[in-house]
Amino acid sequence: MNVNQLRSKEAYNLAIVGATGAVGETFLNILEQRDFPIKTLKLYASKRSTGKQVTFKGTTYTIEELTEDSFKDQDIDIALFSAGGAQSKKYAPHAVEAGAIVVDNSSAFRLDAEVPLVVPEVNPEDVAWHNGIISNPNCTTIIMLVALKPLYDYSRVKQVFVSTYQSASGAGAQAMEELKQQVRDWSAGKDISVNKFAHQLLYNVIPHIDTFQDNGYTGEEMKMFNETRKILHDEEIRVSATCVRIPVLYSHSESVTVVTDEPISPEKARELFENAAGLEVTDNPQGCEYPMPLVSQFQDNCYVGRIRKNIAAENTLNFWISGDQIRKGAALNAIQIAELLISNAQRTHAPLKSASGF
Ligand code: A2P
Repeated sequence: MNVNQLRSKEAYNLAIVGATGAVGETFLNILEQRDFPIKTLKLYASKRSTGKQVTFKGTTYTIEELTEDSFKDQDIDIALFSAGGAQSKKYAPHAVEAGAIVVDNSSAFRLDAEVPLVVPEVNPEDVAWHNGIISNPNCTTIIMLVALKPLYDYSRVKQVFVSTYQSASGAGAQAMEELKQQVRDWSAGKDISVNKFAHQLLYNVIPHIDTFQDNGYTGEEMKMFNETRKILHDEEIRVSATCVRIPVLYSHSESVTVVTDEPISPEKARELFENAAGLEVTDNPQGCEYPMPLVSQFQDNCYVGRIRKNIAAENTLNFWISGDQIRKGAALNAIQIAELLISNAQRTHAPLKSASGF
């Protein structure tokens, strides 16, 4: 069953839930940049932000408190949710009941069999079978899969070993502020305070993102395992991740090792990456050119480089990828899903071609 089918229109009624957050603000930035066809825009956040004003495309909008009735009689077509899992679980069903399609950034519904989990460059076809909710995958998983997909299509990827280098902004606006404060306090010779992370992040790396599970992996690491299988529709693929927080403000990077059915030469991999959507190859090590957070931050594309044959194992390739996890890992991916919904609606309602036409 497919509820809340989007009908083709000139412009759409859009709601953003979590409009004051880091991802919420980036939603607005990207919607403006891509000239997304918006008829009406409703912005929701917590009670704390009620009445706050936001300017979008020269018009001032007032933030409203999110309630169970927020979507009633609003005729909202698409609701972009990024206010955390608890809010998604509680309010997304109300948005769906009121007729909206929810694109949800949280992990609340990602592994629900009724909910598609979509990276537009990887499994765009999955937006077609939603029941009112479509999930946006975990940020590190999205960034990895944009690069994994062209390799996978050439020769099936059986195993992935990945270590991530994740920026402070991935833990939210307050976490980013904590790192900045640690820099200021250290420079002033003051004591450093720690709240959002398990340890001081400044001058440190912390191999701990999300909570530890019985198998020794963290929740974030298991997201990469489970979500990769769902997005690729491949129960056989195995992803072993070690997720690490580093003292960088924006963009996540990942050291990825893939084992494939057939060997893929670095030259072939480079060609596959160059022809893939959403990727930019930066791979000139002799010229000191490779992907870095300072290269990928605030960019839509993910940057891939350090492409080389693994010298320890057969049919194994190494590469390094860096991507802005607030953009491609969250806000941009969700907006691309909304754009897919719109282009599917337009295709469904397109006039039939004449017999002689092409
Ligand atoms: P608010 O700014 O009013 O707290 P971030 O992850 O960057 O901290 O952003 C979280 C977003 O989710 C913010 O827009 C925040 O709004 C929103 N949010 C948090 N809790 C709630 C809630 N109970 N109801 C609605 N929005 C919420």
